Amino acid sequence: MIDYSNIPSTSAEPEASSMIETFRAIGYSIETAIADIIDNSITAGAENIWIDYDWKGSKTTLSILDDGSGMNNEQLIQAMRPGSKNPLDERNRDDLGRFGLGLKTASFSQTRKFSVLSKAADYKPVLWSWDLDYVNLEKAWKLIRYIPNEDQWLKKIESLNNGTCVIWWDLDRLTKDASEDNEAAKSKFLGIMDSVKSHLSMVFHRYMDAGLKIFFRDREIKSWDPFMIGIDGLQTKPETRLERGSIRIKGFVLPHRSKLSAEQYNYGKGPKDSWTAHQGFYVYRNRRLLVAGDWLGLFKREVHYDLCRVQIDLPNNFDGDWQIDIKKSIARPPSIYREQILALAKEIRNQAVEVYRHKGKVLKRKLASDEYFPFWEERARHGKRFYKINRKHPLLNELLSKSDDLKKDIEKVIQFIEETIPVPLITLQESENEKPHGQPFEGIDHNAIKETMQKLFNGFVSSGLSIEKAKARILNTEPYNFYPEYIEFLINE
Ligand SMILES: Nc1ncnc2c1ncn2[C@@H]1O[C@H](COP(=O)(O)OP(=O)(O)O)[C@@H](O)[C@H]1O
Ligand SMILES: [Mg+2]
Repeated sequence: MIDYSNIPSTSAEPEASSMIETFRAIGYSIETAIADIIDNSITAGAENIWIDYDWKGSKTTLSILDDGSGMNNEQLIQAMRPGSKNPLDERNRDDLGRFGLGLKTASFSQTRKFSVLSKAADYKPVLWSWDLDYVNLEKAWKLIRYIPNEDQWLKKIESLNNGTCVIWWDLDRLTKDASEDNEAAKSKFLGIMDSVKSHLSMVFHRYMDAGLKIFFRDREIKSWDPFMIGIDGLQTKPETRLERGSIRIKGFVLPHRSKLSAEQYNYGKGPKDSWTAHQGFYVYRNRRLLVAGDWLGLFKREVHYDLCRVQIDLPNNFDGDWQIDIKKSIARPPSIYREQILALAKEIRNQAVEVYRHKGKVLKRKLASDEYFPFWEERARHGKRFYKINRKHPLLNELLSKSDDLKKDIEKVIQFIEETIPVPLITLQESENEKPHGQPFEGIDHNAIKETMQKLFNGFVSSGLSIEKAKARILNTEPYNFYPEYIEFLINE
């Protein structure tokens, strides 16, 4: 330990206005900002949350009222302080907070001026506001007790025994310089409010399903469940537990489109309006959704995994390990669990792909009499075995048919390939090697398969085959027969 007693020192406090400008640049969206305010309401034990807005151009207000425990004067001042709690402090098990910053950073990300009005049971309501203009003027971390139309806001909270209202009243980023009768600005604002609503329906769906009510302009928001629990045909994998049960992972394979009504299918598209955007992991911290449909850098998003959604539940004391950020919109699995999570996800992803494979196979069986096109064929010549490339294979057939000048050269190269194929070496390896032989295109990029498949399909359809027949023919053609899961995603142009 250094002996500090004789070392010179000087104060270097943060400069208030530049610090606040930094808060403003953390990168919240309005959706994530409002969710962060609601986290505080839930932690304070709220059962009802009312979100309200009043479009008035650049004087628009947005408020979030809750019937949680509320705060007295001292508590409110402490709550308004940036860094009101140490992130290293032990938190109550169901605390959704993290850095002691959310209320301030989330609010400043959207406003230059905001107020918190709060009432603890047996106390009078108290109000304090952050106003960036005042902070600039005073060059100090100072709150003011002021809000335009104070009475109107007081009325909101008076009917509650206890509760808190966060009021954003200078939404410069959203409503900059807009006049009240600017219809374009208004409809943009209303569109944003809609997306806030659907974001909240997803982020807090488990709280809402357990009784929490969130109202948006007095209408209760319905929850959105990414796993569509209870729907017919949903496949649920048994839960896996890590870290002595504190991390829980559960995979779901949602029903295929053909098993859903149009309404259910649309529901599945979720707030992002897309099944593909909603595949992946759903990471929850204390049942609050942090990450909604993302493969966390472990896999790519691909259409044939559309039915796959994986729930990961974390407690609130793993934040550092999982790199939970200030906005609570990012989480990354720590390296010690990476392999396990990867293996689990692969299993669930395979099960999801199996739904499409199965459908492909059924289609193939339905048209079983269709001709089969292998790439290689065995032939006999002078009592000996040879392997030839199948000239009738649709890919080759097409290539040869459109390469007039090169046809002879291509033929020659093919003949050379056929004559030099190292059959004895392959045979030897096959019998002596423990490593199994891979299937075509295993472990490498499948774009070549997908692209040529689509091309063949277009060709078959324009030559007069029905869509079903064209698909069946592709499924009877090597190497596409190994990948029936792609058939579903052929586009009929
Ligand atoms: N709606 C609310 N009701 C009661 N207390 C609140 C509310 N919002 C904020 N607080 C208090 O303010 C503190 C700071 O909130 P915040 O800046 O979001 O940081 P954190 O949530 O990480 O603690 C909270 O820990 C809580 O004590
Ligand atoms: Mg918070």
